[in-house]
Amino acid sequence: MRTPRAPPPRPAPLLLLLLLGEANGLFPEEPPPLSVAPRDYLNHYPVFVGSGPGRLTPAEGTDDLNIQRVLRVNRTLFIGDRDNLYRVELEPSTTTELRYQRKLTWRSNPSDINVCRMKGKQEGECRNFVKVLLLRDESTLFVCGSNAFNPVCANYSMDTLQPLGDNISGMARCPYDPKHANVALFSEGMLFTATVTDFLAIDAVIYRSLGDRPTLRTVKHDSKWFKEPYFVHAVEWGSHIYFFFREIAMEFNYLEKPRARFLALKVVVSRVARVCKNDVGGSPRVLEKQWTSFLKARLNCSVPGDSHFYFNVLQAVTGVVSLEGRPVVLAVFSTPSNSIPGSAVCAFDMTQVAAVFEGRFREQKSPESIWTPVPEDQVPRPRPGCCAAPGMQYNASSAFPDEILNFVKTHPLMDEAVPSLGHGPWIVRTLMRHRLTRVAVDVGAGPWGNHTVVFLGSEVGTVLKFLIWPNASTAGATGPSVFLEEFETYRADRCGRSSSGEAGRRLLSLELDTASGGLLAAFPRCVVRVPVARCQQYSGCMKNCIGSQDPYCGWAPDGSCIFLSPGTRGTFEQDVSGASTSGLGDCTGEPGERPRGRHARPGTDLAHLLSYGGTDRTAPPVP
Ligand SMILES: *[C@@H]1O[C@H](CO)[C@@H](O)[C@H](O)[C@H]1NC(C)=O
Ligand SMILES: *[C@@H]1O[C@H](CO)[C@@H](O)[C@H](O)[C@H]1NC(C)=O
Ligand SMILES: *[C@@H]1O[C@H](CO)[C@@H](O)[C@H](O)[C@H]1NC(C)=O
Ligand SMILES: *[C@@H]1O[C@H](CO)[C@@H](O)[C@H](O)[C@H]1NC(C)=O
Ligand SMILES: *[C@@H]1O[C@H](CO)[C@@H](O)[C@H](O)[C@H]1NC(C)=O
Ligand SMILES: *[C@@H]1O[C@H](CO)[C@@H](O)[C@H](O)[C@H]1NC(C)=O
Repeated sequence: MRTPRAPPPRPAPLLLLLLLGEANGLFPEEPPPLSVAPRDYLNHYPVFVGSGPGRLTPAEGTDDLNIQRVLRVNRTLFIGDRDNLYRVELEPSTTTELRYQRKLTWRSNPSDINVCRMKGKQEGECRNFVKVLLLRDESTLFVCGSNAFNPVCANYSMDTLQPLGDNISGMARCPYDPKHANVALFSEGMLFTATVTDFLAIDAVIYRSLGDRPTLRTVKHDSKWFKEPYFVHAVEWGSHIYFFFREIAMEFNYLEKPRARFLALKVVVSRVARVCKNDVGGSPRVLEKQWTSFLKARLNCSVPGDSHFYFNVLQAVTGVVSLEGRPVVLAVFSTPSNSIPGSAVCAFDMTQVAAVFEGRFREQKSPESIWTPVPEDQVPRPRPGCCAAPGMQYNASSAFPDEILNFVKTHPLMDEAVPSLGHGPWIVRTLMRHRLTRVAVDVGAGPWGNHTVVFLGSEVGTVLKFLIWPNASTAGATGPSVFLEEFETYRADRCGRSSSGEAGRRLLSLELDTASGGLLAAFPRCVVRVPVARCQQYSGCMKNCIGSQDPYCGWAPDGSCIFLSPGTRGTFEQDVSGASTSGLGDCTGEPGERPRGRHARPGTDLAHLLSYGGTDRTAPPVP
């Protein structure tokens, strides 16, 4: 499942690139942020490091945290750790330390640990890592742990964190190996999971269980359905569940045949797949207990130009949000880990995603041939992959004729890729040392709740904050975004231990907590609550306050720059569009002022750069 760790990028191409300068730059310039948060602010942000009631530090002798999952339910944060589950109240929001009110220890029993050790796993792996943490009903959590490579799930009381009822098998619901990526979601009482079902992590699956309908899975060991997938996210939309993931592209494999040297070349592409919520599986002859509605399509996040450049490695996806009346997900993509870091944010309209699943199918006629679209007259009716329903010709998927079921089984891939809104990324970053791997979006930012702000988290917890003008998205490749602010979220003073190093800095999740005007950034050893804006740094200087273009900040009559939570009324000034900062006068020497433009760098030709850095830089031309 995991791609082997790649060697670090070689520096030579970067030099070359800088020498090339702006000459036929494929990408627009990457302006620096309007503001960089002062480092010392960070040390004031509330942090959870495993402390309980009345303690500032975890009790002596307790293990380091090894956080796997966090779940916020209103003003309560649940933290799934290794062998532990915590409940942390987020109120009062003025607190300086986040402490748990409840802690539950859920260890693997000695026999599970013994079996795990006997199968050759390390002691540190043979523990219970919480990999699924979901809300099941108003008072119940559903939690799965890897349980020393023998996953189990159970209900837990939200209030007391006590287990409710028996544990059930976690197979196909939770990975065995804590390092594996998995996603899980409840809908209508059914649990939808994407993970691996076996100890060796060979059998990847999208699985449905619990609830009233039959248990279903994807076809086993069929590389047309999955090829080394890495699951990123799932959302419910309409009558389907959509799964976002990346995998090795089978449709490019024909390239490998004529040229044996290319055998090592594995092109990773990003995908969206969907299944009908009401699928009940196929007939006893075809696709029994398997999805009859599974289809997948490529996600197209690419920079147009002479050398069309694809960001192929999906890292994170938001939930469905409404932007200018469209149902949209924002997704952050990167370059492969063996090339120079580069990242991009693309937006996808769910109605366009759905439309691709109504389009042409793609097939490979023989193992030697290239993949081509299936002519429409060869597609059976009703359309393979559709949701059966009472009142229609076939009232349940198990009633579909074998012809349709066979077609679905052998044609899971759609021909067209899902286009991104505006036909290009909204944000591109190619000059950072680290990839962007997390995304959170606030579509109700500012005092009137009518601005959109996107927060992008890097591998090491640096957050980049952008103002988005969705209406400008049709304008083209320059992107409809303003880079407002860059700030750190990793509190090295509290979250690090000598042994942790870069791995301990890995940003696990980044979540907006609108009620406290904050972001929750989770790392293996801590959760930090960071304000969405640092308006006070511009106090005393009207030009800086208004020039920040920050929808969360406003200039108050008393000469301070204040945080404007949604619904704030009263007197303040702001200029989010950035139209009228000139003529506000300078405030040299004021404490809040920061030099502008000191990070300016030339524009770049990333495609050129990456052709040096890695092999799987772009997809081959589409036939
Ligand atoms: C699961 O339940 C069984 C039976 O109640 C129990 O023996 C076992 O310890 C439980 N496993 C975990 C990881 O809680
Ligand atoms: C878990 O809770 C759900 C309701 O939230 C209930 O239907 C189910 O039976 C419970 N499962 C177990 C194993 O207790
Ligand atoms: C589907 O139709 C069959 C008869 O054609 C009927 O027996 C069955 O109950 C129907 N199922 C549903 C879910 O409506
Ligand atoms: C991706 O989108 C770009 C820009 O619209 C387009 O030129 C390109 O052909 C698309 N690629 C695929 C594979 O659909
Ligand atoms: C947001 O609402 C305010 C007050 O109604 C209005 O002045 C402003 O133009 C709006 N901004 C956007 C981007 O819609
Ligand atoms: C953006 O476009 C939509 C539809 O075209 C329109 O309803 C909306 O008012 C526009 N918003 C702004 C801020 O111009």
